[in-house]
Amino acid sequence: DKVLILNGPNLNRLGTREPDVYGRESLEDLKKRLDKFGNKRGVSIRMEQSNHEGELVDLLHTAEEDCQGIVINPAAFTHYSYALRDAIASLSIPTVEVHLSNVHARESFRQTSVTAPVCVGQLSGFGFLGYEMAIDYLLRRNDSE
Ligand code: DQA
Repeated sequence: DKVLILNGPNLNRLGTREPDVYGRESLEDLKKRLDKFGNKRGVSIRMEQSNHEGELVDLLHTAEEDCQGIVINPAAFTHYSYALRDAIASLSIPTVEVHLSNVHARESFRQTSVTAPVCVGQLSGFGFLGYEMAIDYLLRRNDSE
């Protein structure tokens, strides 16, 4: 099993970027945490970050070859990138949208997501834990009731 974790623009600055909103842990801390979580769950985690829209589109396309699902934090692209939306919509594997902060409690421009409608669902406001919840969903989505 393999899951791709994609992080969008400015998330490379986690830890120092607006720590009151995003916390003091870095993207490297998130990677360590998700690697550990993946080991526990028996799934291999590939985590990428890019500040470039086209690179994120390319990474989405290639995930289809060997991943069973995608967890994406599109960061600011969430709010206006039709290119990311169309890339997600083109895939045959499920994508879950994650935000560290609760975007619905912030500025009004953050309350629109053009990407969430083509994702299975959105997790917002749960910090790093949201990524683990999204991975769990992807691993368990085919569980019978
Ligand atoms: C974010 C929320 C976005 O509105 C913002 O542009 C980000 C991070 C989050 O994880 O809370 O860069 O996606």
